Amino acid sequence: MDRYVIAGFPVKHSRSPAIHGRFAAETGEPVQYDRLEIAPGEFATQVREFAAAGGKGCNITVPYKLEAWQAAARRTPRAELAHAVNTLRFDAEGWAGDNTDGAGLVHDITVNAGVALKGARVLLIGAGGAGLGALGPLIEAGVAELVMVNRTVAKAEEAVARHASLAQAHGVSLRAGALEDAGSGHDVVVNATSASLAGAGSPVAASALRPGCLVLDMMYGPAARPFLAWAREHGAVTRDGLGMLVEQAAEAFQFWRGVRPSTDGILAALRAEVD
Ligand code: ATR
Repeated sequence: MDRYVIAGFPVKHSRSPAIHGRFAAETGEPVQYDRLEIAPGEFATQVREFAAAGGKGCNITVPYKLEAWQAAARRTPRAELAHAVNTLRFDAEGWAGDNTDGAGLVHDITVNAGVALKGARVLLIGAGGAGLGALGPLIEAGVAELVMVNRTVAKAEEAVARHASLAQAHGVSLRAGALEDAGSGHDVVVNATSASLAGAGSPVAASALRPGCLVLDMMYGPAARPFLAWAREHGAVTRDGLGMLVEQAAEAFQFWRGVRPSTDGILAALRAEVD
């Protein structure tokens, strides 16, 4: 069996082992996938130990995506731009880092939810580890306009500056702003903040939403509920982060094994466990 883990703190409730277990069964790939909880300050040491003991790769979640980016010897172009890595593969010639979050998000919106991103006006709230991976793939999906807002404006400005030439190449109008500067009437709004964990209300004003727009929270379960309930009150169609979780996992599986597993059926099964 080839061993992989989800590395983070905490990871007790992570659904990734169940998802990758199903991918392994479906594809017949000899993959074993477990949790590796890593205490603050121990990321590089513990992942090195896991790799030395024969581990083949890992997923990375809060709060280690930046450390994983730094630890990678090589990065895919989308990971390079994101400054965040959620997938490491321990190749003989050095660790390869990828970021599959944004591709998972785009797949979930366009394929699972059936909402077009081409030509859409999109608001991305949050410039932390979860939000950074989304910028590049949203640009490449052909959105017309992309606004990234964050409580700490400088973080959004840095991320947007890194993506400026990609946006220009795709004809996308890209800007950064403060939460109060979210603009109005967006077609798709993605919450990549952890504001709801802190019990805070919506990070942006309701004028950011166009009636009937899609509002997606990257979180799922109880953590996503208050923000999504607020969005529904203001006329939005809502979606939590479970579909994105499954799709980013499928992308990671492909990065490791060279085959993209089918995600059909998994979302419904997970939904029954989470809600
Ligand atoms: P993650 O990996 O989940 O993105 P993170 O890197 O700690 O975790 O980022 C959390 C995100 O939620 C950030 O965008 C953060 O804003 P800052 O960059 O200003 O810290 C945002 N966030 C957290 N609590 C918030 C709150 N109460 N209101 C608005 N944004 C909040």
